[in-house]
Amino acid sequence: MTQQQTALVTGAAGFIGFHVAKRLLDDGYRVIGLDSMNDYYDVTLKERRAQILIEDPTFTMVHGKLEQPRLLLELFCRHQPTVVVHLAAQAGVRFSIEQPRSYVEANLIGMFELLEAARAHPPTHMLMASTSSIYGANTKMPYAETDKVDTQMSFYAATKKANEAMAHSYAHLYGLPMTMFRFFTVYGPWGRPDMALFKFVSAIQEGRAIDVYNHGNMRRDFTYIDDLVEGVRRLIDTPPLGPDHRTDPIPGDSLSPVAPWRTVNIGNANPTALGDFIAAIEGAMGQEAQKTYMDMQPGDVPATWADTSLLTHLIGTLPQTDLKTGITAFVRWYKASYNRAP
Ligand SMILES: NC(=O)c1ccc[n+]([C@@H]2O[C@H](COP(=O)([O-])OP(=O)(O)OC[C@H]3O[C@@H](n4cnc5c(N)ncnc54)[C@H](O)[C@@H]3O)[C@@H](O)[C@H]2O)c1
Repeated sequence: MTQQQTALVTGAAGFIGFHVAKRLLDDGYRVIGLDSMNDYYDVTLKERRAQILIEDPTFTMVHGKLEQPRLLLELFCRHQPTVVVHLAAQAGVRFSIEQPRSYVEANLIGMFELLEAARAHPPTHMLMASTSSIYGANTKMPYAETDKVDTQMSFYAATKKANEAMAHSYAHLYGLPMTMFRFFTVYGPWGRPDMALFKFVSAIQEGRAIDVYNHGNMRRDFTYIDDLVEGVRRLIDTPPLGPDHRTDPIPGDSLSPVAPWRTVNIGNANPTALGDFIAAIEGAMGQEAQKTYMDMQPGDVPATWADTSLLTHLIGTLPQTDLKTGITAFVRWYKASYNRAP
């Protein structure tokens, strides 16, 4: 970068936001992080992530909710971010059945406020988190960005589908370049306590049984956090072009015919059976898990699998950390963080 650019990272105290903000700081960006620090999971973990970011003098932490009227507008006005990476959201499939209203507030109203702020102070590129859950009941594997996505199974996924459409309309109306990320089960150090890896490791560590959904008949395209951050970083430099500036079409591109908007899978293209995932955790911990076999949970899907050919076409081949290495890194971080003897 010739001149220092400003990036706004929403959800900077969250799992992915923390890693993305850190990478952007390392790359010389000035970073504004926004986070509500809500108590969906352990707030101390969010504070610890934020504390690391704050040590960098070019990082500014702002506490607040996306949906708070004028907050984003004022942030955009003051800092004029050139890049926006929008990762704040109410995440989680299961919680969206218990508390759907929090998804309306954070994911729908919050997204609206973000788009309005961007309309007033246009960044050069906005990148926003969608999810593999958007593929819902689709059975064609691997999931490609140009597949129809009309059968969301959870309200969480429905709000993310709405986010893709909301972003598209603003990209079209106001010429704002926007990239949506469809993330596939992200894991790694500093990960979320509501996700399987964290839950399994803490249960094994504390001698509790782990809940194995759908009797273990599940597959997930696990994506290691460093690989994902590399993908996000490269996509920041790959904004979609509007209809007037197109070059040769890319096969399987989700690029809109009428707007500088595209949605991209970021996954590992290598689905792992839940049993193999658990075995890898047991191997890393040197301990066997006690297992409680359960039915499929409402809102969940039995398998995810990313077609990453569009991603590769756009930014080249990403590193693919193998599961054993990734899980070992997580277990090491977990034990160091929660002060447990190895
Ligand atoms: N982790 C995954 O495997 C995964 C997979 C698919 C999609 N995603 C999406 O990626 C994004 C980041 O996920 P994550 O795993 O880092 O989740 P996370 O919950 O760790 O991070 C989200 C952060 O946003 C903050 N936040 C929530 N609501 C807010 C609001 N209204 N205003 C301001 N801040 C708010 C939270 O406090 C949290 O720190 C989310 O949009 C999520 O839906 C994640």
